[in-house]
Amino acid sequence: MQDFYYSVPTKVYFGKGVAGKAGELARQYGTKAMILHYGDGVVEKIGLYDTVVKSLKENGVDFVELKGILPNPRITKIDEGVAICKKEDVKVLIPLGGGSCIDTAKAIASCVHYDGPAWDVVLDSSLAKDNLPVIAIPTLAATGSDMDSDAMVCNEATNDKMSLNIPEQFPVYSLSDPTYTCTVPRRQTAAGTADIMSHIMEVYFSKTPGAFFSDRIMEAMLKTCVKYGTIACCEDPSNYEARANLLWAASWGCNGFFDCGKIGRRWSVHPMEHQLGAYYDETHGIGIAILTPHWMRYILNEDTKDMFATFGINVLGLSAEGDTMYTAKKAIDTLEALFRSWGIPENLRESGIGITDKSKFEIMAEKALGPAGRINGFVPLDKQDVINIYDA
Ligand code: NZQ
Ligand code: ZN
Repeated sequence: MQDFYYSVPTKVYFGKGVAGKAGELARQYGTKAMILHYGDGVVEKIGLYDTVVKSLKENGVDFVELKGILPNPRITKIDEGVAICKKEDVKVLIPLGGGSCIDTAKAIASCVHYDGPAWDVVLDSSLAKDNLPVIAIPTLAATGSDMDSDAMVCNEATNDKMSLNIPEQFPVYSLSDPTYTCTVPRRQTAAGTADIMSHIMEVYFSKTPGAFFSDRIMEAMLKTCVKYGTIACCEDPSNYEARANLLWAASWGCNGFFDCGKIGRRWSVHPMEHQLGAYYDETHGIGIAILTPHWMRYILNEDTKDMFATFGINVLGLSAEGDTMYTAKKAIDTLEALFRSWGIPENLRESGIGITDKSKFEIMAEKALGPAGRINGFVPLDKQDVINIYDA
């Protein structure tokens, strides 16, 4: 088990009606808020918008809005939000939505006291100062952005998708009401659940002796996703218990809790997927769910087979009898079949982005490797490995 430092300052209100606390909580920071949302009517339709507006008015908090936030959030939208915050002297940000809305709010919060393009801060996070507080209200169980310090941001001019990650970006509050997630369509529910699983698997699949506690916690979380992802995707989309378990699992999926005691953060699939978002605007969780089984198959060998087999036995319920390599292969096939049963396509050609042209794989692979020139994950990957996985 490795040494660690752990701190999550976000305060969480979880359950029916908690969004009604937004005004009272925002009021401690001032009388001007910014509400951020997709702008396509979804937060109005689920009743969240009215609840938050009523709560702000009741508590004497005026507000401005930033609408039109897209999946794979754009830096231009962050610049727009920063300009409004400066002009209107906004004191607190309230994103209503999934990771894209919450990440946009967190990035604005970091850039508002910097006089220059927001992308400068993404490239050099030391430029961030005096972050505005963020009260996150998630409408989708996926990224866990409501309870972590990360914001993924796209630069549409350069096809870059990068992380801005500083401790000051932890939302001050997460107001999580599972009721609002019951309307998330099947494709997005599947994508979100696969994303939660990936945040866990990126850490779980590492050889760290003695991290028994973390490994068993992660297995419980993965089992939660398998059980309730299936209910929410295939059986009963508005099942509160399913939505509640997924939303709570999502919040814990990315905040470093189960990383404690494991070998550092060495993700493999995420850096590869972020290029699909940057170049093809792929839905993050769909890209993750397509790449993960292909990545597992690619790195399956005598060194990795034990972990994949353990995952198959402890999470997917495979038999512990028999040959480890056979069980490991079966685990990968079973995971892929699970994603398929939720409606996720098997490969990039079948996905919404329909990749048929491989000409960008080289540049995407280079960006996935980053400055280190390799992905130092469960199994180190070089440029050709990444191209081969995209190709698969
Ligand atoms: O706009 P419509 O068609 O209405 O669809 C919305 C939205 O565009 C739909 N949606 C959300 N809540 C809904 C709903 N539909 C019906 N009812 C509701 N209650 O979902 C669409 C996608 O939303 P988005 O916010 O993009 O989804 P998600 O939460 O998956 O966020 C993805 C973004 O977060 C980043 C991803 O890279 C991607 O940019 N990530 C952020 C992380 C973090 N901050 O820690 C970590 C992740 O690994 C990830 O990289
Ligand atoms: Zn993710």
